[in-house]
Amino acid sequence: METSYISATPFPCRFGFRILPRASASASLLRRWYPPSSLRCFASCDQQSLNMDRKMLIMGMGFVGQFFAHQLEQDGWEVSGTCTSATKKKKLEEMGFDALLFSSDDHDLDLGSILPLEYATHMLVSVPPVAGLGDPVLYRHQHLLQSRLICGNLQWLCYLSSTSVYGDCGGAWVNEDYPLNNLTESAKARLAAEDGWLDLGHSLGVSVQVMRLGGIYGPGRSALDTIIKQDSLTAGQRMRETRKYTSRVHVADICQALKASINKPSLGKIYNVVDDDPAPREEVFTFARTLVQEKWPDHIKQGTLPDDGESVIQKKITRGEKRVRNDRMKNELGVRLLHPTYKSGLQSIIESMDCPFESR
Ligand SMILES: NC(=O)c1ccc[n+]([C@@H]2O[C@H](COP(=O)([O-])OP(=O)(O)OC[C@H]3O[C@@H](n4cnc5c(N)ncnc54)[C@H](OP(=O)(O)O)[C@@H]3O)[C@@H](O)[C@H]2O)c1
Repeated sequence: METSYISATPFPCRFGFRILPRASASASLLRRWYPPSSLRCFASCDQQSLNMDRKMLIMGMGFVGQFFAHQLEQDGWEVSGTCTSATKKKKLEEMGFDALLFSSDDHDLDLGSILPLEYATHMLVSVPPVAGLGDPVLYRHQHLLQSRLICGNLQWLCYLSSTSVYGDCGGAWVNEDYPLNNLTESAKARLAAEDGWLDLGHSLGVSVQVMRLGGIYGPGRSALDTIIKQDSLTAGQRMRETRKYTSRVHVADICQALKASINKPSLGKIYNVVDDDPAPREEVFTFARTLVQEKWPDHIKQGTLPDDGESVIQKKITRGEKRVRNDRMKNELGVRLLHPTYKSGLQSIIESMDCPFESR
């Protein structure tokens, strides 16, 4: 019987005793996170035997979220992740993920009944901020999150941020302590989101960290894909095209940093997660085009990078110039980058690519 899994047995936790699972949680959710056999013997099982320390909730199963979820599942974790549309949910389920519909824009949503908040031992937040609002999840659900998570098993909370918070530093090398001045609206929103998640973690008494990511690339999202698609660059891409330095990071190295942080949790640390080589975007595209031409000669048109949009470029030419340091990630988390430069990253991506031109 569904309700037979809903137990009022006091269960030892960080806060002494809690009542789990809550009566309003759906039975299918409970079965997913707690097999019936485990639920029946709550009182006698210890935390280890229930494997309670490896349940990840990913808020935002986007590019990084999906890549990380794959890796965690391979390592034996139970993973649930959110997305904002039914179409994406179906797609994620077809990929084998446990997908949950959640959009902070949905005002009528009962977040607590949708997300396995009490059951998650780890939570990764990958939802981008909104200018003028800050973090859209915290903006609408902060109190509910706090009241539900405090009754749960959360041990580790991580917010994915961006190196864009440093703004334009005139090409200087910047570490996590670099002063943040003259912030744009989007940088202000990002910082407010960082503060919000750090505050929530502190108030819950759990390990909490922020990862400031450089430009993310990986299989399916890289200069190689842009060149193969022969797309014209967007206005945003053309702006970045003019930069002397762009910090970036391969998604596999983001996952390395996240796993390292799970093994070495902090109480509020901020880490830059970037590679060692903040090379100009133009250099990266030239290298990517060479790789594609070498692997599939005669398929790439010359002039993939358009020379129009000059006026946009001129206006934004110095936006975001900085070189981001990653020493803290290396020294404190012990991360050894799989792809210290874009060259190694793009090389590994193209090596695992099937020919994209045959079906055209
Ligand atoms: N792309 C970069 O180069 C870069 C660089 C630095 C930092 N970042 C930041 O790092 C994080 C991860 O990056 P990513 O490239 O993996 O992001 P992504 O692919 O855009 O994924 C973002 C996720 O957040 C979800 N989401 C967006 N708005 C939401 C809302 N209002 N309520 C609930 N969920 C919402 C999206 O839902 P759907 O799946 O339904 O779309 C998606 O799952 C993001 O915060 C991103 O801004 C990105």
